[in-house]
Amino acid sequence: AETHVHNFVVQATKVKRLCKTHNSITVNGQYPGPTLEVNNGDTLVVKVVNRAQYNVTIHWHGIRQMRTAWADGPEFVTQCPIRPGGSYTYKFTIENQEGTLWWHAHSSWLRATVYGALIIHPKEGSSYPFPKPKRETPLLLGEWWDANPMDVIREATRTGGSPNISDAYTINGQPGDLYNCSSNDTVIVPIDSGDTNLLRVINAALNQQLFFTVANHQFTVVGADASYLKPFTTSVIMLGPGQTTDVIITADQPPARYYIGASPYASAQGAPFDNTTTTAILEYKTAPCPAKGGGPIKPVNVTLPAFNDTATATRFTTSLRSPSKAEVPTEIDESLFVTVGLGLIPCPPGVRSRNCQAPNNTRFTASMNNVSFVLPSNFSLLQAHQQGIPGVFTTDFPANPPVKFDYTGNVSRALWNPVQATKVYKVKYGSKVEVVLQGTSIFVAENHPIHLHGYDFYIVAEGFGNFDRKRDTAKFNLVDPPMRNTASLPVGGWAVIRFVADNPGVWIMHCHLDVHIGWGLAMIFIVENGVGELQALNPPPTDLPVQATKVKRLCK
Ligand code: C2O
Repeated sequence: AETHVHNFVVQATKVKRLCKTHNSITVNGQYPGPTLEVNNGDTLVVKVVNRAQYNVTIHWHGIRQMRTAWADGPEFVTQCPIRPGGSYTYKFTIENQEGTLWWHAHSSWLRATVYGALIIHPKEGSSYPFPKPKRETPLLLGEWWDANPMDVIREATRTGGSPNISDAYTINGQPGDLYNCSSNDTVIVPIDSGDTNLLRVINAALNQQLFFTVANHQFTVVGADASYLKPFTTSVIMLGPGQTTDVIITADQPPARYYIGASPYASAQGAPFDNTTTTAILEYKTAPCPAKGGGPIKPVNVTLPAFNDTATATRFTTSLRSPSKAEVPTEIDESLFVTVGLGLIPCPPGVRSRNCQAPNNTRFTASMNNVSFVLPSNFSLLQAHQQGIPGVFTTDFPANPPVKFDYTGNVSRALWNPVQATKVYKVKYGSKVEVVLQGTSIFVAENHPIHLHGYDFYIVAEGFGNFDRKRDTAKFNLVDPPMRNTASLPVGGWAVIRFVADNPGVWIMHCHLDVHIGWGLAMIFIVENGVGELQALNPPPTDLPVQATKVKRLCK
């Protein structure tokens, strides 16, 4: 196995999109950032130097970080942020993961421009469980604002309202032909007739689930979230923010140029969203050239599902299967039922209404089991847990919601006003954990891509409406459910995930819509050390961002 050493300099960089030049925060001046390629079993060492004016951390989305929680990255969860002028070296080994992951900033909305692909090839000497494709192309789907994303979220926080929606979607940082001032830079994906290309599709958008398709072509889906899948054929895939999907495309159509497209699956009822389409071009090498002086030959048009095409999204997510019999935990030690949804905090009398722009003089919030998660601001939770620092969190995150009711219809008012607190849920090393994630329709029914750090989990079932254990246990797939790190919760529905808590540390589980994480849609699992070195967290790196010793408020 190899060790790969990289330097990431986080810095302001001039980036021109949609006719305007911005001072965007990037890594090494690249947007999207550098692609990291490793083999399963390799070690990554990435020194992050912060030359920007914001605090930053980098998260390696989907990397399990076995015993190396210190390198996971979410700010104030596993580390204090890297201050402007500071640096931190993330070091971790890839253990039994193959496929496509990605990395992104995990601090406020910086990930809008600070992200890149992380490709894990098979272990040295082994190969894919499918014929080796001729080419491989990472395709990062992103979201672009015509304003500084950090200002967008700051303004929303100030008003208590919903942040402005984005102005474009992007593929590898480019909006594509359908947007102003963008067509010259549209991303071209080359292919030879008859050849195959493994498209590693990553949804790096902040707030939007996306459909993805290529005109006139079918895909074979072979993996998601760096786990292989039982291959199946489809013409469209759907990805929630945080999710990745590996598809093989074969150049079996007449030589030409074909649009690759992504557009929103905006299943939320009533919430505003950016309803535009980003495109790239799949270009056959022998595609006819335009006649001299004639304009370019238009690519073959792409047809995407309608933004509310829940049937197509559901057909896709419920088609995913593990390639062979999976080791799904059966006897469960820890069973949680967790509501996932929005809330509205009434503004105290006297608060000027411009700070309370959600309906009826309220501020938007979001919660799990009626707890709206608040990040600590002085220590990271991992440090507090490891060093036994009191007063940073409490261990009373409830395993069940405070009221049992109709979550997707007439939701109990008791679930509208969450408590704002830093509560964690502790589990013993090796516990078999089941979490029923139940969406609520407080204010609006929305989709929630729920991401768990430090683990992959099996999605054993999902459905619409209220989860009913008696009725729905019959639907559990305990044979070959898909393994993922992000579960796209059906709108007004539920999903059941299972995992074995074999990775000690402090792990955040949150909605990967950045607008929701800012409102508190997160919870924390603390997985305690087991017995012996292989079941215990490694010691913290010496350059972990904390302030000089003796100062109590370590993160300041
Ligand atoms: Cu991809 Cu906590 O994030």
